[in-house]
Amino acid sequence: MDRRHLSSTFVFLLFLSFFSEVNSASFKIVNRCRHKIWPGLLSGANTPQLPTTGFLLNPGKSRTVTIPRSWSGRLWGRTLCGLDSTRKFVCLSGDCGSGQVECSGSGAKPPATLAEFTLNGAGGLDFYDVSLVDGYNLPMLIVAKGGKGGNCSATGCLLDLNGACPSELRVARKDGGGVGCRSACEAFGDPQYCCSGAFGTPDVCRPSTYSLFFKRACPRAYSYAYDDTTSTYTCASADYVIIFCPPPYSSQKLFGERKDGAVLPLVNKSMIYISSVHANGASLSGK
Ligand SMILES: *[C@@H]1O[C@H](CO)[C@@H](O)[C@H](O)[C@H]1NC(C)=O
Ligand SMILES: *[C@@H]1O[C@H](CO)[C@@H](O)[C@H](O)[C@H]1NC(C)=O
Repeated sequence: MDRRHLSSTFVFLLFLSFFSEVNSASFKIVNRCRHKIWPGLLSGANTPQLPTTGFLLNPGKSRTVTIPRSWSGRLWGRTLCGLDSTRKFVCLSGDCGSGQVECSGSGAKPPATLAEFTLNGAGGLDFYDVSLVDGYNLPMLIVAKGGKGGNCSATGCLLDLNGACPSELRVARKDGGGVGCRSACEAFGDPQYCCSGAFGTPDVCRPSTYSLFFKRACPRAYSYAYDDTTSTYTCASADYVIIFCPPPYSSQKLFGERKDGAVLPLVNKSMIYISSVHANGASLSGK
């Protein structure tokens, strides 16, 4: 390689890095919970890796991660983490099984509330949703900032469903405190709930009493595999704020009532007292 070739390669790389700088999004991940969380990030197949795949976020803190514009993947929160007797890092909910704070390519063990993204997908739009298809462990809100095109609505699941979870889906720690709420698919493995086998198409796989429990509480979140029409949101060239444990009332006021084109409310007001009613550890009897 001669010198001229080298320098043109350098200019090209410089151009490339400038280009990728412009073509990146930022995810500001915020912990509004009263306890520590450990966000985990998983990149989809054939998408660029991220600078981090997991870290500690103290209450009231936030961290901004730069995300390549062509990225797709998911993000969740882990709770009640620590070192086990063999000095492996483990979490009571959302554990990724890596044994370390970084998830390094491993996903969340259900149940976990997931934020799912496909940036710069069909028509140049970002597709995003909050999914309870793999169950629930934490309230979460996604807010699109500075985007254009698409509808850029806020989405999420603002209620604490760990206390209200039907008993047959409930995951609790030894002292009885709820740490997660499983999906019916994960709890029973039934094709009817998993939309698999004979139930593998949208017209055959219908909402169940279990998926409706999630949908009623969190109308904008995915409650089962084919819940697309009310749960997928789009925006173009936006940055995103992902908030764990957003305060339900003020979040609803801020994001639910602004003109954002989404038909469903962010939070079901008739269910907003669920968590305090059941704060004593009692749970709704599952139907
Ligand atoms: C809110 O919850 C009530 C009670 O479960 C339910 O009947 C209603 O359909 C829910 N609203 C929405 C918008 O999901
Ligand atoms: C925004 O997205 C929601 C959910 O998919 C949809 O119901 C609504 O019609 C969309 N609004 C606009 C303006 O595109």
